[in-house]
Formats: sequence, structure tokens, C-alpha cells
Amino acid sequence: MSVHNELKKVTTNTLLRMKTQQTKISMLTAYDYSFAKLFDGAGIDVILVGDSASNVMAGHDSTIPITLEQMIYHAQCVVRGVQRSLVVVDLPFGSYQSNTEIALASAIRIMKETGCHAVKMEGGEEIADSIKKIVSAGIPVMGHLGLTPQSIYKFGTYSVRAKDEDEALKLRQDALALQNAGCFGLVLEKIPAQLAQQTSESLRIPTIGIGAGPHCDGQVLVMHDMLGINTAFNPRFLRKYANLHEQINSAVAQYIADVKGGDFPNATESY
Ligand code: KIV
Repeated sequence: MSVHNELKKVTTNTLLRMKTQQTKISMLTAYDYSFAKLFDGAGIDVILVGDSASNVMAGHDSTIPITLEQMIYHAQCVVRGVQRSLVVVDLPFGSYQSNTEIALASAIRIMKETGCHAVKMEGGEEIADSIKKIVSAGIPVMGHLGLTPQSIYKFGTYSVRAKDEDEALKLRQDALALQNAGCFGLVLEKIPAQLAQQTSESLRIPTIGIGAGPHCDGQVLVMHDMLGINTAFNPRFLRKYANLHEQINSAVAQYIADVKGGDFPNATESY
């Protein structure tokens, strides 16, 4: 049994405690049973069923098209593979922006139909009322500020956010609004490291950075990017921990050669 299996389940309180104790939080995305089981077994603290599934699982060029039903399907698969990690699921575009009732109904569906532990929502002050409503129904909410991919057509680019003072001030105010609305944590995506540090230090709740420098309380990456499955995405913030694209490519090429050459299966692989 690994050390991680002896540890208690990660909860939102665990994350708050980790911030107080200055223990960094590890988070990765996953979208299916097999990878979720691997990541959970390896000891990851938080698994995010991100709406990046729209890109890396479905092949869309943004997170806009993925539906609530599709997110629920991915989350159900992930939850079946997890014993210890906290599972957070993105509310997809269109499932919470209209009004607080719709937001609550979407969050309830995700919690009831998947067995996950929390939801994540993109946006600041403008979604604070919906967050309050969802939190008061007993559902933990993680916020998401900085680069918010669901608003890509409003901003027009995936470049670094909050580089000027006005935007930086707005981000810090939004972060406080999300904490006051009851968020238990906050993703900070693609913002200057110094702003992420100031924001993290000003909050009681943990921040999880992606392209937001080393001073956040934790880090998150998209699994396909950090495992080197996706070769086309190479932003400065991404560290690749494996080169699965090459390994999978050569494994499949070898399999094809073995099948075509009559080498597979051999006698010991046959009944
Ligand atoms: O959908 C996602 O994968 C995310 C992470 C990039 C934080 O929101």
C-alpha cells in the first residue's frame, strides 16, 4: 500500500489547512476513469474535470461547445476511479451565466449525478450572487480568474491577463468578492507572477495557479499538456513531464509492424 492510500480523503478543509501550513496543493485535470485512477493512486490532491475536455477530449477549438450532459459523463467516469483526491467539476459555458436559479440547478445536477465533491466557475463579482446561492445549498465552489477560456471571444486572445494596473486591481477585487461569496479556492490562470503572489497573500482561501508563477498555494496543469500527449501547445508556463506522444507513436508503429509481419501474436500469446 502506498503512503497516499493511508492518508485521509482530501476535502476542501484539507486545502484550507494546506494553505495555512504552507503545503503546496497539486492539481491535474482528468476526464476518464483510467487516468483518474492513476492520478489518484499517485497521490494528486485535486482532480479537476475541466471543461478543457472540450478541447482535449472532443477536439473543439474552445471550451464553449461542451454541454452540461457531457461534463456530467466525464465527471461520472472520473469519480469511479478516485478514492482519495478531491474531485472538482467545471460548470460549462451556458450552464450558470443566465441567473442564480439556473446556476444552482446546474450545480445540483453535477453534484447529484456524478458524486463529485465541488464545482468550479469562471468569473468575478458578476457571478458572486450565483456562488452565494450554490454555496448556501451546501455545494463547495472554486473560482477561476485571469484567463477565463469561456470568455475567449470577449477578449479575443489567450495572452497573459491583468498586465495593466486597472485590470490587476479589478482581479484583486474580484478575488476578494469570490472569497466573500464563499469560494473555498481560486484558480488564477495566466497572470503575472507578482500579481498572483499579492492576490494569494491577501486571501484566506488557497489559490491554484496555471501560468501564474510559483507563489500560488498550488499548481494545476492539463494532463494532455504535461504528459506530452498534445505537441501543438507549448506555452512558456508548461513543463512537460513525459513525452507520451512519441512513446505512443512508436508503440503503435511497432504494433502495426508486428501485425503486418505476422509477428504478433506468437505461440505463447495464443491458446
Ligand atoms: O478546464 C480546465 O482544464 C481548467 C484549467 C486550465 C484550470 O479550467
